[in-house]
Amino acid sequence: MKTILVATEKPFAPEAVDLIRKIADEAGYKLQLLEKYTEKSELLKAVEGVDALIVRSDVVDAEVLDAAKSLKVVVRAGSGYDNIDLATCTGKGVVAMNTPGQNANAVAELALGMMVYFARNHFNGKPGTELKGKKLGICAFGNVGKQVARIAQGFDMTVYIVDPYVEKKQVARKELIFLSSVEELYRTCQYVSLHMPLNDETRGSVNYSLLSLMPQGAVLVNTARKEIVDEDSLVRMFRERPDFGYVSDIAPDNKELLEKEFPGRFYFTPKKMGAQTAEANINAGVAAARQIVDYFKKGDTRFQVNK
Ligand code: 3PG
Repeated sequence: MKTILVATEKPFAPEAVDLIRKIADEAGYKLQLLEKYTEKSELLKAVEGVDALIVRSDVVDAEVLDAAKSLKVVVRAGSGYDNIDLATCTGKGVVAMNTPGQNANAVAELALGMMVYFARNHFNGKPGTELKGKKLGICAFGNVGKQVARIAQGFDMTVYIVDPYVEKKQVARKELIFLSSVEELYRTCQYVSLHMPLNDETRGSVNYSLLSLMPQGAVLVNTARKEIVDEDSLVRMFRERPDFGYVSDIAPDNKELLEKEFPGRFYFTPKKMGAQTAEANINAGVAAARQIVDYFKKGDTRFQVNK
């Protein structure tokens, strides 16, 4: 009998776990759960002997993969798979997958939610501003970027897009303005929302030379990965531009410095919260479980990311 381990330091909603269990039961597999673990040693122990692994942002590095001697497939229930050591997976013949798009709406709602919260002065009773009529630049028009564009248009924002991998003609939706230069996007938009994956190309790519182009009242919105934004550039922007604000789904590493020197100029979620809705958990968790069953029963590798 095959065993699927769901290892989530930040657990799925209970309904999502129930549905994953149902899919495992129907396939004749055993489901093992490791939730809210605090030590890596717990994960190392739990992965021993499992055939499949479902994780969220949990780190699956070479040590975990070494401990998981029977592992054949690991699914990141979510979009970004920078937490998985793909090279080691490939070396060990482990298939790695993600579940693209399944939590995109949840992340997009958080991006707009943080923008409203920030524009209204953290709901502190003082007059704020509205999103209507403002210019929003979306960096990367993938699953999340598309949802952000849709919701922002509902707010009557003017939406600009930069994505070197998407051609304007591939996008049917009207009233989205495609720009070919990222500098132009930063120069044009009061709000810039980041939706690119973390990789060697994007790490630290949002830097002072881009941020300093932003117009008055600039707000950077990050529901991607904290590592995409260069932290020294953030400090420089806060120092030089009293109008600059930053909202991010999880805090940068220099959070303490920012809290001390620039209080009230940013908002950070205490934990990565973008995908933390019952709906997103169900969508991503169920997709992950189905992908595992389809891989074992039909050899389906459609969502493999280490090809
Ligand atoms: C993702 O890459 O899908 C999001 O960052 C969500 O991450 P999480 O599952 O850890 O909340």
